[in-house]
Amino acid sequence: MDKFVIQGPCKISGKIKTDGSKNAALPIIAGALLIDKGESTIRNVPPLRDIDTIVKMLQYVGAKVDYDQKARVMRINASKLTETTAPYELMRQMRASFLVLGPLLARMGEARISLPGGCSLGARPVDYHIKAFASMGAKISEEAGYVVAKAKPLKGGAIYFDKPSHTGTENILYGAVMAKEKTIITNAACDPEIVDVADFLNKAGAKIHGVGTPRIVVEPVKKLKPVDHTVSGDRLVAGTYLIAAAMTGGTVEVSGIDPEHLTLVLHKLTEMGCEISSRKNAVMLKAPKRLGPVHMTTFPYPGFPTDLQACLMAAVCVASGTSHIKETVFNDRFSHSMELRRLGAEVTISSDEAVITGVDHLEGASVMAPDIRAGAGLVLACLVARKRSEVLRVYHVDRGYDRLDEKLASLGADIRREKD
Ligand code: EPU
Repeated sequence: MDKFVIQGPCKISGKIKTDGSKNAALPIIAGALLIDKGESTIRNVPPLRDIDTIVKMLQYVGAKVDYDQKARVMRINASKLTETTAPYELMRQMRASFLVLGPLLARMGEARISLPGGCSLGARPVDYHIKAFASMGAKISEEAGYVVAKAKPLKGGAIYFDKPSHTGTENILYGAVMAKEKTIITNAACDPEIVDVADFLNKAGAKIHGVGTPRIVVEPVKKLKPVDHTVSGDRLVAGTYLIAAAMTGGTVEVSGIDPEHLTLVLHKLTEMGCEISSRKNAVMLKAPKRLGPVHMTTFPYPGFPTDLQACLMAAVCVASGTSHIKETVFNDRFSHSMELRRLGAEVTISSDEAVITGVDHLEGASVMAPDIRAGAGLVLACLVARKRSEVLRVYHVDRGYDRLDEKLASLGADIRREKD
C-alpha cells in the first residue's frame, strides 16, 4: 500500500489544469451500455482507480472498452452484451458501479446487481433507486445480497426523490430514455455532472429536458446512436487545489473547469479573505496571510459540496477564530476530524456539526485516509503541518485524484509517494 510523506509547511502556488470529472465520467461510461450499435468515443476521461473499476464492470457484461489513458480517450462498443449480473467483487470496490442497474435493465430487461460498497459515508442506501425503478414498472427482489430487477420494458411514469440523489437521478435517466412512456423526475439532483450525462444522452438521440433543475422530463425514444462526447472538468479536484492554495498563503490559477460550478465554494473562500477572479475556464485565487473563519453548511448542488467539506475543514484548522461546519448530505462524514486532531487541530463534533477553533500551526503526524475526499482533506492539512507527516492508505485518494502527490509537488509541495 502506498502512503504520502509530506514535509511541511509548504506553499501551493502556480498554474494547474484539472482533468475530466470522475463523477461525470463514471455515469457516462455506464450509460454507454444503452447504445446497442457502433462505437462511442468519450474524451477527457481521467486516469483513476474508479474509472478502471467501471471499465472492468462494462467488460464483465460483454462491452468492448479501449482506454488510451495518455490521450484520456475511451472507446466503448456495447453492441453485444452477454451478462446481466454486476458481481460483488466489482461492486464492493465502488458504489458508483450501481449505475449499471439502469442501463442493464433498460437494455436487457433484467439486471442482477450486488449491493454496493465503496466509500463508507454513514448509511448510504440505494432505496431511492429501487423505489423509482419499481414505480417505473420493474419487479424488484433481493436475493443473497443482490438486487434483482426485471422489466420488459420499463414503462416510465412520475418519479420523485425524498432528497435529491446524484447517482439516483442518473440511474433513472437511463431507465427513462427508452421507456414506454414519458417520465417526470421531481426533486432531481441538479449537479453539473448530471447535466453532462444528459448532454451525452441527448447527443445520442435521447430527449431529456429540464436537467440542471429539480424537474426533469424525459420523452422516450426507440434507439440511441453512438456519440463523441467530452467529459466536463472536475469541479471537486479544482476546489481541492484552490483550497490548498488558500490555506497555505499561495496564489494559483486552476483551469479546465467552469467557475460557475464552484460558485458557493468561491463565495466561501472570498468570505475567508481570498481574492478571487475568474474567466471562462479558469479561477485565479490569491490567499491572505491567514484565512478568516467560516460558517458553512453542505447542501445538494448548488449548495456547498459535501465532497469539499473535509478540505474546507482542514483549511479552517489553521484559520483565525472559530468556524462552524454543518454536514447535511451524509450522516457520517466527519471521519477526517479524528485524524485532524492527531495533527493538533481543535475540532469538536456534535451530531452533524463540527466546531473548529483555528490554531497557529499543526504538527506533523501519521494519519490515515478513510475515503477519497477525507483523504484529500488530510493531505491538505499535512501541507500546513510543521515537519514530517504521513498520509496512509492513499489508495482511497487515488480513486478520485490523478497523482495528487505529483501535482501538488509541481505547485511547490514537499510530498512524495512511498510504499508503506
Ligand atoms: N440516499 C438515500 N437513498 C438512496 C440514495 C441516496 O437515502 O437510495 C441519501 C444518501 O444517503 C445521502 C443523500 O441521499 O444522504 C444524497 O446521496 P446521493 O445519492 O446524492 O449520493 P451518491 O449519488 O451515492 C454522489 C457522488 C458522491 C457525492 C454524493 C453527494 C458519484 C459517483 N458519487 O454519490 O461522491 O458525495 O453524490 O454529492 O457521483 C466522491 O466522489 O468521493 C463521492 C463520494
